[in-house]
Amino acid sequence: MTEPLSYNKYLRVRDLIALQDCLSDPAHHDELLFITIHQAYELWFKQILHEIDAAALALGEDRAPLATRALARVVEIEKLLVTQIHILETMTPINFLGFRDELNPASGFQSMQFREIEFSSGLKDASVLRAFETDEFAAPRLRARFDSPTLGEAFYAYLTRKGLDAPPDDASLDEGERQRRYGQRARAVLEILTHFESRYEEYQLAESLIAHDEHFSLWRYHHVKMVERMVGSKRGTGGSEGVGYLRTTLDKKFFPELWEARTYLDTKHGAAGCPFAGER
Ligand code: HEM
Repeated sequence: MTEPLSYNKYLRVRDLIALQDCLSDPAHHDELLFITIHQAYELWFKQILHEIDAAALALGEDRAPLATRALARVVEIEKLLVTQIHILETMTPINFLGFRDELNPASGFQSMQFREIEFSSGLKDASVLRAFETDEFAAPRLRARFDSPTLGEAFYAYLTRKGLDAPPDDASLDEGERQRRYGQRARAVLEILTHFESRYEEYQLAESLIAHDEHFSLWRYHHVKMVERMVGSKRGTGGSEGVGYLRTTLDKKFFPELWEARTYLDTKHGAAGCPFAGER
């Protein structure tokens, strides 16, 4: 007779709690926390990718509310990921140094799923692909994400089907034409912001995208502050300059047009609607 299903069996708790192998010997008390936090991140990254894929699929089928819901979940997870960073700050810098050397040359820099989220959201970087070239597990996954449309591309394709002028970017075009298209996409967002009642589905969607962008950046910010508090200006275990490198990532944006559109807004929009509306 087979055993009835139980909590431990369904969730494979026996396997799950056997996955935290400390490298320090004797095991340093805080290394378990360090591993647990990183593993928890990777599980949440998996869930975020699941939701991003669902959002992209829904967008392709013009089901904006479904995409918005999936992205709202992503944002709630990201809020948790930001607060999770601070659990690490209960570890003293000297305790971290007690096992830090064992980690060399591993680093969060090599988190495949973090890069998958970046790629799928809109930040594709070929140098990242090269960095994972020899990793049999990560390389094909990253390549697949690199070659797939981003959330931003799916969003602007959806807006185009909704009658807005939001042409895609195309790296084969000259810089002037790319800039012109960028401006058109930002103005399509402006149109949504200034007509949010008649374009409510698009508005909700755009807001969930910018919230995803914002909360991912907030994670970057909390991470760099925590790193500086922990190791000052030491080089990273992954070989980068450390905090100096991390600061250069703070301004990265998944959907720059969504932010740019705010710059185009002015007080007359509030008073008289969108000045571009008459041009079409
Ligand atoms: C004591 C805790 C931590 C320290 C001291 C630390 C330190 C660093 C440093 C110095 C870097 C720069 C790359 C390098 O040279 O290694 C880095 C990158 C990174 N870390 Fe952490 N980290 C910590 C915890 C975490 C946690 C909990 C996560 C969650 C997954 C994480 C994810 C990342 C990611 C994704 C990057 C790459 C960021 C980018 O390139 O934009 N780190 N970390």
